[in-house]
Amino acid sequence: MYSEQAEAVLGCIRERKSIRNFVDRPVPDNLIQSIIHAGIEAPTAMGLQPWRFVVIRDKGLIKRISDFCKAALLETLEGYPPEHAEPYRKVLNDPGYSLFFNAPLLVFVLGDERCHQYLYDCTLCAGNMLLAASTLGLGGCWMGSAEVVAESPDLLAELRIPDHFRIVAPLIFGYPAATQPTKPERREPYTIWID
Ligand SMILES: Cc1cc2nc3c(=O)[nH]c(=O)nc-3n(C[C@H](O)[C@H](O)[C@H](O)COP(=O)(O)O)c2cc1C
Repeated sequence: MYSEQAEAVLGCIRERKSIRNFVDRPVPDNLIQSIIHAGIEAPTAMGLQPWRFVVIRDKGLIKRISDFCKAALLETLEGYPPEHAEPYRKVLNDPGYSLFFNAPLLVFVLGDERCHQYLYDCTLCAGNMLLAASTLGLGGCWMGSAEVVAESPDLLAELRIPDHFRIVAPLIFGYPAATQPTKPERREPYTIWID
């Protein structure tokens, strides 16, 4: 057995899972601040801390981003074999489908591309944020499919993404609905031991 603190941290890591089903309740400011502050505790190459955060709670804007991404993703399906593309195309064509699962909070973690390890730095930051959300009773999920927002100069301007910054992690957060699927099982880690 480990110390109480170690068990708590390991338990938090084990219990985190992606949440894609939320109740209609806003996330309070103090929890958003705590999640971001957990993010910035991540290690960074040369201590450069090359991140910025865009916090979006405007439901209308979240829907517009979702609609843009859905249309852009539909275009990317053009070259796919129909049997792979068709089920996804059906989902994306459903006007009621939200790419962000109706989450009340969308956070973009941005990385400064002038810092050459920014992708690693911001990914570690996002991992901390997802863990922090989970331990604070919230749910979260990395929404890689929202990266296509980078193809919209209008949305990038509206999101006020500074020059030299790239979207690394689109994250959704919210209070989890009561019913959730179980966390996908992990395969045993293939480990090479060299003593
Ligand atoms: C880089 C990255 C991109 C992801 N993109 C999506 C996404 O676009 N949509 C989605 O529903 N989940 C996305 N996820 C969540 C994964 O599907 C999820 O982490 C994985 O299935 C394992 O489940 P767990 O997080 O519950 O352990 C993404 C996760 C990562 C790390």
